[in-house]
Amino acid sequence: MRVLLTGGSGFIGSHIALLLLEKGYDVLILDSFVNSSSKAINAIKAYLENKNLNYDLQTISGDIRDKKLLDKIFIDAAKKSNPIQAVLHLAGLKSVSDSLVNPLHYWDVNVCGTQNLLATMNENECYSIVFSSSATIYGLTDSVPISEDHKISPINPYGKTKVAIENMFYDLYRSNMKSWKICSLRYFNPVGAHPSGLIGEDPIGIPNNLFPYITQVAIGRRKFLNVFGDDWDTIDGSGVRDYIHIMDLSEGHINAIDYLCSKKSCFEIINLGSGKGYSVFQIISQFEQSTGSQIPFSIQCRRDGDVARCYADISKAKKFLGWTPKRSLEQICLDGWKWQRKNPNGYS
Ligand code: NAD
Ligand code: UD1
Repeated sequence: MRVLLTGGSGFIGSHIALLLLEKGYDVLILDSFVNSSSKAINAIKAYLENKNLNYDLQTISGDIRDKKLLDKIFIDAAKKSNPIQAVLHLAGLKSVSDSLVNPLHYWDVNVCGTQNLLATMNENECYSIVFSSSATIYGLTDSVPISEDHKISPINPYGKTKVAIENMFYDLYRSNMKSWKICSLRYFNPVGAHPSGLIGEDPIGIPNNLFPYITQVAIGRRKFLNVFGDDWDTIDGSGVRDYIHIMDLSEGHINAIDYLCSKKSCFEIINLGSGKGYSVFQIISQFEQSTGSQIPFSIQCRRDGDVARCYADISKAKKFLGWTPKRSLEQICLDGWKWQRKNPNGYS
């Protein structure tokens, strides 16, 4: 089965690509490389060749907003009698702070880009899509665990684009309920790396997120971690989040494709998280214990837009996708550290 994976060179996309190829899918990656390196694709190839696996991977450098290119991708695939049967749509911009500075750019790439993709899929009668949504759309809430029917209340342009896309899915599905199969996955905090240490998270510039910041402190690229608040109403005063191993998250996508294949039509929105909450101090302590590294830290003010705790109710993923996360927080730390140790400067 051939799938189009947009954003397949990025942090999450590269892990999904590897898993899809290992499972025998033909994968066509479309990525503009605006926030990723083609070295991630080389690393995937190196891994598969080392394992002597036959695979069919094609990479196209381009933008999801380029309608002509999308048309060509679908038409060429059909001409080769290997049409695209499903799309995993990850391409997009994801920085909360950037989205506050450049909101129109976020609406253009995320929303117009997705509209373009959906129009092309429609024209080419490809009706199956798995999408990367985000827990950020639940906004400033403290009522945990968060289930999919929780109020939607995004507080930044990035989150608003994800909500707009989910609304677009709803309208599209309603317009042709016989054909469309849509699964929007709301990710919590994907972290860690492939156990080989060949692919992982490589943020450009200073990491915004906790986990890559910690691994960069451990490797010596940053002196210490800023902890954003130790006065939250949590177990130890630091913020609590739902950290999910990137391989568990990737496996959730395989289950989502299987789910779509088993349906005549559907539109489902499903949380992907570990279902557990860990505080910043618990993460530091587990990382130190698992890796033997030291993570010096300094307590700072609370960060704008943060909440005390956020973790997922994952019962819908279990019920609908038959998926449960398998990897522990220790495994997250070990794999994330292996990637950082093998690649102190990421892909560069
Ligand atoms: P990433 O930036 O590493 O990957 C996104 C990929 O999309 C990059 O390779 C980038 O080059 C590509 N891209 C961006 N704009 C493009 C365009 N116009 N055309 C083609 N390609 C384009 O981010 P990620 O962490 O792998 O996230 C993947 C998806 O998951 C994103 O949609 C993101 O919003 C969503 N998500 C991520 C997180 C997270 O914590 N990482 C959480 C929730 C949701
Ligand atoms: C952040 C974004 C969210 C986005 C998600 C995944 C904000 C306010 N939220 O969520 O919209 O969907 O990333 O990309 O930006 N922390 C520190 N020091 C750091 C970094 C983080 O103490 O250097 C703390 C945070 O305050 C939080 C926890 O660590 O309590 C996790 O932070 P982070 O990894 O940024 O994830 P989220 O806050 O869940």
